[in-house]
Amino acid sequence: MGGWYLENTKDDPAEELVEVAVERILPGGLGLAHADGRTIFVALSAPGDRLRVKIERVKGNVAFASVTEILEPSSVRIEPPCPYFGRCGGCDFQQMSYAAQLEAKVEIIRDCLRRIGGIEDVPQFQITPAPNQWHYRSRAQWQYDAARKWLGYFESGSRRVCDVAECAVLVPELQNTLSSLRGQMEQGGLPDDARDFRAVVGDGDVSISPSVRNPIVREGASTKRPLGITRTIAGETYGLNAESFFQTNADLLPQLIEAALHDAQGESAVELYCGVGLLTVPLARRFTSVIGVESDSSAAKFAQSSLRLAGLSNAKIAKEGVGNWLAWNQQNLGSASLDFLLLDPPRAGAESRVIADILRIRPKRICYVSCDPATLARDLRKLIPGDYSLKSIVAFDMFPQTHHVETVVQLVSPQSDN
Ligand SMILES: C[S@@+](CC[C@H](N)C(=O)[O-])C[C@H]1O[C@@H](n2cnc3c(N)ncnc32)[C@H](O)[C@@H]1O
Repeated sequence: MGGWYLENTKDDPAEELVEVAVERILPGGLGLAHADGRTIFVALSAPGDRLRVKIERVKGNVAFASVTEILEPSSVRIEPPCPYFGRCGGCDFQQMSYAAQLEAKVEIIRDCLRRIGGIEDVPQFQITPAPNQWHYRSRAQWQYDAARKWLGYFESGSRRVCDVAECAVLVPELQNTLSSLRGQMEQGGLPDDARDFRAVVGDGDVSISPSVRNPIVREGASTKRPLGITRTIAGETYGLNAESFFQTNADLLPQLIEAALHDAQGESAVELYCGVGLLTVPLARRFTSVIGVESDSSAAKFAQSSLRLAGLSNAKIAKEGVGNWLAWNQQNLGSASLDFLLLDPPRAGAESRVIADILRIRPKRICYVSCDPATLARDLRKLIPGDYSLKSIVAFDMFPQTHHVETVVQLVSPQSDN
């Protein structure tokens, strides 16, 4: 077991090797261990592993380490099935059984809410497993090294491309797209100035950016922008393309939408960071009036066209940065008593002025959808003392084989009926 770890060992007399026992997995996916009075963060480890590790980097009393030898494997350790494991920066949880991955993610969320969010009694919550632990990604970004003719993902902690022929987390349509791009790369058919390729799967086809001649993907017109395609989720049809954000794991989206909207209904709802309208369309079916805010112009256009396609004229999209939009509109929103505010920001979370304006608007209910438990907890630390209580937490394993996890948190104000 652990062939990659052994290959990684270098015969260097200056290297520092330490024996450690991994206690648990931390936010960010590294294992926590202690040795010689130092805290040691170990990449690609499993809780319960006894390991020999190499110290890669030291920062004060903290060291970052990589595994050189598995002295005693954890009971949850499994052989990582992917041949690129350890080199490719894509998947950092393949060394753990799926049950252990889920357990680690629940612990990561709890840890963030407790330590960063300052929430002392984090309620019990469930994580919904992914229906497919492999072959689930329907959106991908492949890095391209034109000089070496390599196409794949960045190596972990580096900007060097790990050349990947087969990726075990891609849905079959995207694996075919990757194989087709690689075929063109080998024949010199990819543009030399491209740095990366993005692709997303629609109902019947794949959108790719930058556009390339390809029998299985749609070509962009004369511009380099990819054409829009459609994707149907829970009975609603959305426009999208490879450049606009779309959730990676379509299998879990009906449940994610249900958890985010839950029993919400009423007069007015605002959705910040609305993307192509995945949550805006279902919101517009439940609220009399809805505004979605999105800064990316193609995503905002797709959101508007998805609403039109659904025949919903009670929702509109503001193509604007959330910070500015709230600054301009918080007075109106605050005086109108907003029923529901949903935010689904990128990994960095919401800007602090966004949180401050949300607290000024005082929506009756808030739903925070997050792909990073640390920034979610940071933002909740400010929202909850602003007179909100935590109504529920649910997690979704949108990204099996990685430490990433999606969390949906519902907050209610005393003014809320539920
Ligand atoms: C995590 S995605 C969520 C999108 C949508 N809720 C969904 O589930 O498909 C975050 C979105 O926020 C947008 N975004 C990022 N920063 C923004 C900002 N400052 N103002 C408005 N939108 C922003 C991104 O373009 C992206 O579409």
